[in-house]
Amino acid sequence: ATIPKYVTCLVIPPAMPLTATLQSTSIDCYVIGVRQFSQQVLPPGLPRTTVWGYGLESQGQTFHYPAHTIEARAGRPVRVTWVNGLVDPRGAYLPHLLPVDPTLHWANPPGGVAGRDSRPNFASTPGPYAGPVPIVTHLHGGHNNEESDGYAEAWYLPDAANVPSGFAMVGSRYEEFEATFTSKFGHGWDPGTATFQYDNDQPATTLWFHDHALGVTRLNVYAGLAGFYHIRGGPHDLVGVLPWPAPGRCDPPGTRYYEIPMLVQDRSFGPGGSLFYPDSRAFFDGFAGPYIPDSDISPIWNPEFFGNTMVVNGRTWPVLEVEPRRYRLRLLNGCNSRFLILKLAGDPLAPRPVQPALPIWQIGADGGFLPAPVQLDQLLMAPAERADVIVDFTGVRPGTHLYVINEGPDEPYGGGVPGTDFAPANPATTGQVMRFSVVDLLAPDPSTPPGQITRLPAPPKPGRHTVTRRLSLHEQDSAVLPGVGPRIALLGIVKPDGTGRALGWHEPITETPSVGTTELWELHNFTRDAHPIHIHEVQFEVVERQRFNGSARPPEPGETGLKDTVIALPNEITRVRAVFDRVGLFVWHCHMLEHEDNEMMRPYRIMDMFA
Ligand code: C2O
Ligand code: CU
Repeated sequence: ATIPKYVTCLVIPPAMPLTATLQSTSIDCYVIGVRQFSQQVLPPGLPRTTVWGYGLESQGQTFHYPAHTIEARAGRPVRVTWVNGLVDPRGAYLPHLLPVDPTLHWANPPGGVAGRDSRPNFASTPGPYAGPVPIVTHLHGGHNNEESDGYAEAWYLPDAANVPSGFAMVGSRYEEFEATFTSKFGHGWDPGTATFQYDNDQPATTLWFHDHALGVTRLNVYAGLAGFYHIRGGPHDLVGVLPWPAPGRCDPPGTRYYEIPMLVQDRSFGPGGSLFYPDSRAFFDGFAGPYIPDSDISPIWNPEFFGNTMVVNGRTWPVLEVEPRRYRLRLLNGCNSRFLILKLAGDPLAPRPVQPALPIWQIGADGGFLPAPVQLDQLLMAPAERADVIVDFTGVRPGTHLYVINEGPDEPYGGGVPGTDFAPANPATTGQVMRFSVVDLLAPDPSTPPGQITRLPAPPKPGRHTVTRRLSLHEQDSAVLPGVGPRIALLGIVKPDGTGRALGWHEPITETPSVGTTELWELHNFTRDAHPIHIHEVQFEVVERQRFNGSARPPEPGETGLKDTVIALPNEITRVRAVFDRVGLFVWHCHMLEHEDNEMMRPYRIMDMFA
């Protein structure tokens, strides 16, 4: 059955209500759980979909995919107790919603697949992993301490009713970070939870939170674990000029919003409306055989996932009614592996490449505002990138339909131009994202036309660097079945002879900036594909890109603000510069989640200079 498009309204996530405010310290506190529930992701009349989502533990109706938005103020800390609530109504562990590949280096709690894991086992019968679900939440783009960063090995299981004694309920780094948190704030973490403090000592911007558990991030995020986190106020915000309001904590019903967060994701659906994620390598074109020739373990991991349906804010192909005025759209590519090339078109099925119907004015990127608005025909967004944009519908006749279309490929992106260098996404499915239906203007638009905004409060860039690191992106045969399975991607270091050495997640740390140092990281991409590289803890400046043996060119116009995720194009060196200013253990990785989960992630440590 095909899914009808443009029959449901875009859901605009409201602001997450506060659980409490610590009066003495002015810290906003939340107790946010992760639960399994069903939601109308497909249009009404089609089945509901079982998903995972975040919500306020004290208010069941706030559980949603994607989460309600955390609204933070610059300079005012937020403290979140993240509760793993993935238990059934009797309090027993829920199994994973999606097929886990137990052969990857992953969180691997007790209950692993029989025959592969000698520890006592919840799933005593051979077959797919049916054990408990580890989670750990990361605030993407946040400038935080290590114990609050959501380290991939600081995962934890629910505090369930069916836990045999003596089991490791937490990942290898959980207890050390809990001890650090306790020493700073005077209280520890309850079983099945972790408490993180976000300082918000960074410019106003769009961050997002999502799951980050080792080797299952692609599955936990695909199941629904993502939400927006906005930082507002401070010297690098702008008010009175931009379209407003955004959703608040208790707006009267029917409030019109002119600032709209949009989480764009690709998904596929199985029978009965279930989320489809492949449980077989057969999904990967060109590879038919099993990954692990073991009857107990299905060949599962695929090098990338591409769905056939576009979902915005948790609904397939939605519609937003807009007035003929300006809107601020806070876009996030939340796809597992898909690069988006977004355009505004009058006809969603027009031949590609489409003539844009309206320009897109980009005003901000991952880490804050750009120095000035940039007028674009299209918006290239890799997974995890954010684009703060203004679209001006002024003068568009009510009754007009405009479409967000996608010309990114239905396969990994390798750079280049749609229609010339690669086939754009299928115009009938993933080539369409959502619709704007123009209605009558309700009130005059007080915002400033983006073309008249000459300066934005962009945060300052890091100064000169004193250290250069040459790092590498690789693709190679998997160690498990060399020459047979799909190749995996890894990070590594560039050797003096200019070739790279790939390093797995478990190998010793090679990146050790001294605290306070400004460093230039060169990303040498030796693979055939573009990879979105994300560095935790910092917001960096994209300095330049250079083809191997070519000359350097400046960053793209939309990359002139601070960033935390950068597209490293194949056969190029991408240079980024950041100040590493918080001691601790962090990670850097590819944000194609299938890559991140299978070795394209590395730990790094910011060193105390006096240690
Ligand atoms: Cu958005 Cu390390 O993640
Ligand atoms: Cu990658």
